[in-house]
Amino acid sequence: MGLTIGSWKTSWPLSTKTARIVCTLLFSLILYGEHPISREPVTVTFVDPEWSHDLTEHTVVADDRLKDFTQETGIGVKHLPTPETTLDQLDLVRKLLGQGSSTPDVSGVDVIWPGVLNDELMDLKPSLATELSSINADVVASYTVKGRLVAVPYHSDIGVLFYRKDLLRRYGYRAPPRTWKELEQMSVRIQEGERARGQKDFWGFLWPGAAGEGLTCNALEWQVSEGGGRVIEADGRISVNNPDAIRSWQRAAHWIGWISPPRVTSLQEWDVINDYYYSGTSAFFRGWARTYLLSVRDIPSIRDRIGITSIPAGKNAQAATLGGFGLGLSRSSRHSAEALQLIRFLVHREIEIEEARADYESRNWPELYDPTAILRAKQSSADTGRQQVSGVVARPSTVAEDKYEEVSRAYIQAVHSVLLGQSRAPEAAASLERDLVRITGFKTGPPIRNRVPKEKSSGNASGARRAAGSTGASPHDSLK
Ligand code: GLC
Repeated sequence: MGLTIGSWKTSWPLSTKTARIVCTLLFSLILYGEHPISREPVTVTFVDPEWSHDLTEHTVVADDRLKDFTQETGIGVKHLPTPETTLDQLDLVRKLLGQGSSTPDVSGVDVIWPGVLNDELMDLKPSLATELSSINADVVASYTVKGRLVAVPYHSDIGVLFYRKDLLRRYGYRAPPRTWKELEQMSVRIQEGERARGQKDFWGFLWPGAAGEGLTCNALEWQVSEGGGRVIEADGRISVNNPDAIRSWQRAAHWIGWISPPRVTSLQEWDVINDYYYSGTSAFFRGWARTYLLSVRDIPSIRDRIGITSIPAGKNAQAATLGGFGLGLSRSSRHSAEALQLIRFLVHREIEIEEARADYESRNWPELYDPTAILRAKQSSADTGRQQVSGVVARPSTVAEDKYEEVSRAYIQAVHSVLLGQSRAPEAAASLERDLVRITGFKTGPPIRNRVPKEKSSGNASGARRAAGSTGASPHDSLK
């Protein structure tokens, strides 16, 4: 007996079992074309540097968000953490992506990595045009290399100053410091007072001074606020060897042992956070806005004691470093369609959550609202190398492209050696300038001293709103 398929009749006899197999195969080919899709559920791997940035039981990308994604789409997600420091994270992510293996499919991308990871990640611009229209163009520019969108902005962040509300009250201050000079004066007074009350190991100001990317972020704020430029300017001129940058490093070195503990030079970001929040032995701390907004504000004992305001201003401006992470899609991913679905899902969720968060915060914690300048960084303009219209300043990663890691390592080494007292600042700056010329091939030039426009202050009681984004800059005294 022959087998009829449509009007075609085979001329040779087939057993019923064989006929069934042939039919199944033919159907599969008709349904799926030449590349039959596996019916196995797909799992995408997501390596997430922000995971290590969490303070509490929460993860920054909450696992229930990933579970929702799996429920909606049937696509599994393997969520992987990374080491703690930015330089170690970059080593790992670059190694994983660079070896051409199919995992990870999705990677968190620090705002400074796009130039370094450009070859390993897909251009997301064509796939995410709609999403991009609701994200700040300057932040998008930080993730763009030679016209390719290497990662889509996901969590933007900015440097902020944390302060102890209870201590400000105790020492009669109505507002947190708005300039470095005020920070120094308040630190000295509170430190002396607290030590006299029995806290012998109390210090005024904590910041991450270990030789890591956190130091680049801090030192950039010190020098931009004093008119010392951005290490490498947007037009590719190496500007770091100038008197204002040098003075700003000297000022920070002078803090050590005076208002900051000598151990700051070995403290990474998370050491400082733990120290500040949980040991309570310092008055001020330079950290990131998201740390507070994501984790700490949910812990009432901390929220009631700790306020958040903008980084103090110097004689030139107030400057807060732009930080944060985007999401990138590996060129070697075997599940790029599903990985893109995950990226889209997370970005959409984030846009919704941020809208709700901004609304909730503005109603419940008005003093927090301004420093939600991470949102400012998203919604208004950030200085990402093309212009400077707010206090947000980008590291020179866009201009240094794939050389950024070397640039930052050289900068860290120079500043750290000044902090440790191993080199004098003018020599360290001159030698850094030579290193940067060798690394990048760029020419040297003067820093661009943009004045960041002053914001009108609203002058509320805590001073947090007032200080956020305002410069209040006054020429600081020469170093003693
Ligand atoms: C924060 C920022 C990131 C920066 C890092 C430095 O995580 O979001 O951009 O590189 O701190 O420690």
